[in-house]
Amino acid sequence: MKTEHSTNPQVAVKDVWKSFDRGRIEVLKGVSLDVCKGELVALCGTSGCGKSTLLNVVSGLEDIDRGEVAVLGHDVVDEKTRVKLLRFHIGYVFQFHHLMPDLTLAENCLVPVIAAGGSRAGALERLAELAEATGLSHRLKQQVRELSGGERQRGALVRALMNDPEILLCDEPTGALDEKNRDNVMELLMDLVRSRGRTMIMATHDLDLAKRCDRTMKMRDGRIEGEIR
Ligand SMILES: Nc1ncnc2c1ncn2[C@@H]1O[C@H](COP(=O)(O)OP(=O)(O)OP(=O)(O)O)[C@@H](O)[C@H]1O
Ligand SMILES: [Mg+2]
Repeated sequence: MKTEHSTNPQVAVKDVWKSFDRGRIEVLKGVSLDVCKGELVALCGTSGCGKSTLLNVVSGLEDIDRGEVAVLGHDVVDEKTRVKLLRFHIGYVFQFHHLMPDLTLAENCLVPVIAAGGSRAGALERLAELAEATGLSHRLKQQVRELSGGERQRGALVRALMNDPEILLCDEPTGALDEKNRDNVMELLMDLVRSRGRTMIMATHDLDLAKRCDRTMKMRDGRIEGEIR
């Protein structure tokens, strides 16, 4: 799979419908969203409107009922494609971190590098840099179960950035952080994403954070209502 694509957008969601419980719970009701290379898009909207579901659909972690989802020009519906995208091209900061509690933070962060076949030496160097930037250097050797909620959240961000992915999906990446840590983490994230021309979609309830993105899209009841300006 090529990593450079001339075709824009890098994320193309077209009239996507997604339900759970055999159609009884309709969550996405015709969502369309295009995100170009280097663009930072915030997704806002009340709890339950479908932000996390949309990010899961973009990552290929959730199947869709109908519609089209393409990332880097590749159809996410195809299973082989989605594995490659997740392994090499997408970083995902989950709403509830999903770190493995019995592994150390460092081990958790090395998992995506191992999955992508990256070099251990390079990974350790990057891990040290990212841990330093997020204030986690002294926590790397601890089991995740011993970390605070905010440390886990920052750890999840480090893990998502380990492979320097082209597409970063962030689901409430600062929800568990105090203001100072929130600002630090956002600065790091914005710097990395902007300086490397990466593409980011971030679900957030925090309108201050959303304002730092290029566009803020408002979701409501499974649809994108429009842009908040
Ligand atoms: N696996 C599932 N099975 C059934 N319903 C689900 C499932 N996942 C999500 N839902 C429902 O879909 C709706 C949208 O959920 P989603 O997590 O996408 O909302 P959200 O916008 O991310 O909310 P929040 O701001 O609280 O994180 C909710 O009503 C939720 O209960
Ligand atoms: Mg959510």
